[in-house]
Amino acid sequence: MVLFPVEIFSAEGNAAARKKIYKMNCSPCHGEEGKGDGVGARLLPVKPAVHSDGNIMNNRSDKYLSKIISKGGSAVGRSTYMPAWGGLFSDQQIRDLIAHIRSLTRSLSHSSKGVDR
Ligand code: HEC
Repeated sequence: MVLFPVEIFSAEGNAAARKKIYKMNCSPCHGEEGKGDGVGARLLPVKPAVHSDGNIMNNRSDKYLSKIISKGGSAVGRSTYMPAWGGLFSDQQIRDLIAHIRSLTRSLSHSSKGVDR
């Protein structure tokens, strides 16, 4: 029965699984820590969003992030270099990605205040 492992995978707090999805699919452009410095970033004419920048990301609603992730940049009037992921990920996985992005923002605001944890 597959239901059980799926539930574990998507359970709140499964940060490692979320990180892995992000690393495999998003970090080539956005960078592993969401700094917009992935290996592919310099090849793009549009700079990938910096997910660790709280000044930008804290102003974005979950709804907005969900839309751009599932439907791509063009769905919100932004660059088509941000691909649409809705066909690849479930709604739950997209929520997980948003949670991961939010955690990247938090970790940077910690270090910028000099808090080393
Ligand atoms: C091929 C490169 C590429 C990949 C891979 C990619 N992105 Fe993006 N992404 C971009 C670019 C470029 C932008 C900026 C678009 C703009 O500013 O017009 C962007 C913007 C975004 C934004 C908007 C942030 C804001 O400023 O509001 C989010 C959220 C996002 N990406 C999430 C993701 C997630 C999650 C993944 C992995 C599932 C991913 N991206 C994979 C290129 C990429």
